[in-house]
Amino acid sequence: MKLLVCGGAGFIGSNFARQRVTEHGDAVTVLDKLTYAGREENLADLRDAPGFRFVCAGIEDAAAVVAALEDADAVVNFAAETHVDRSIAEPDAFITTHAVGTFVLLEAARARGVRYLQVSTDEVYGSIEEGSFTEASPLAPSSPYSATKAGADLLVASYHHTYGLEALICRGSNNYGPFQYPEKLIPLMVLNALHGDPLPVYGDGQQVRNWIFVEDFARGIGHVLEHGAPGEAYNVGGPDEAPNLEVVQKIIAYTGVSEDLIEYVTDRPGHDRRYSLGSEKARALGWEPQVRFAEGLERTVDWYRENTGWWEPIRSGDYRAYYERQYGRALG
Ligand code: NAD
Ligand code: TYD
Repeated sequence: MKLLVCGGAGFIGSNFARQRVTEHGDAVTVLDKLTYAGREENLADLRDAPGFRFVCAGIEDAAAVVAALEDADAVVNFAAETHVDRSIAEPDAFITTHAVGTFVLLEAARARGVRYLQVSTDEVYGSIEEGSFTEASPLAPSSPYSATKAGADLLVASYHHTYGLEALICRGSNNYGPFQYPEKLIPLMVLNALHGDPLPVYGDGQQVRNWIFVEDFARGIGHVLEHGAPGEAYNVGGPDEAPNLEVVQKIIAYTGVSEDLIEYVTDRPGHDRRYSLGSEKARALGWEPQVRFAEGLERTVDWYRENTGWWEPIRSGDYRAYYERQYGRALG
């Protein structure tokens, strides 16, 4: 296949692009604006692969999108602002990328008549105390991040309903693994532990997330792209749920630091208590997650230990100022 992968220089998009090139022989064009979260280095090993191309542009740039789409068979859209805390502090870019950007991509896909897959999140369903969300659950997002992602999902669905666009939606649960920017829970805790910095747990640390190893999510997206029914949404959730405190304690155990590093900090405003995804519909298509949390977390800690050259420029750059604003203290 020839794929246009938008947001492919970020965490999940780069893992997806790697899988498609190395395991499926796809010709991949990555279009990415290279925000703070996107890095061309994430795709360094793909640079010389046949048919691989990188275009630096925003999905809201119609001319760039149309040119990049060229002869692609399908568009997969990962491009997004992805951090809930940043959406609370500065929601502007979330509106532009998720609403305007998704609209521009849908128009380009419609004009070319190609298949379109929107990468979305379990957060569009909001919080659930017991049981799991299915694709039929109502959308009830809580944060500017999840609300704008939900808006994008609705727009994507409308392009199938109204124009017959072959559009699909994949809603993933919390991803973790190599190449994740250290503003998110797991890489933040791993790097802080490796540096002996405090481990900031929001509120009581009993919020529950459903964890999926990034390669399992990427494989699920590829599977839905190839086998999913247009007009449908598919939940792609991980095999394990855990409260945040338990995740932090596992990281403490793998890195061999003291529990005393845990620091309870002010809770996130509007913090969702629990996410849980039922993924029977995606499983019925023949996909299932392969990596359990204990194994994936160890692989992730090892990757961060071994790839200091990947995170050192991040941890010594603008991230320091972000961290200070967010946590009210400097990194060590
Ligand atoms: P990320 O923040 O690591 O990467 C996002 C990428 O999008 C970056 O490369 C960035 O440069 C690019 N980007 C941002 N705005 C853009 C724009 N206007 N035009 C072009 N490129 C732009 O995010 P991620 O964790 O890889 O998430 C990818 C997708 O998966 C997102 O749509 C997110 O909502 C969804 N998702 C993420 C998770 C998770 O746990 N990380 C879970 C479920 C779904
Ligand atoms: P995060 O990785 O930001 O993902 P999301 O908010 O999209 O689920 O956070 C995961 C959970 O970890 C969430 O409940 C918030 C919590 N958290 C902390 O307790 N401390 C932190 O420093 C961060 C970044 C998150």
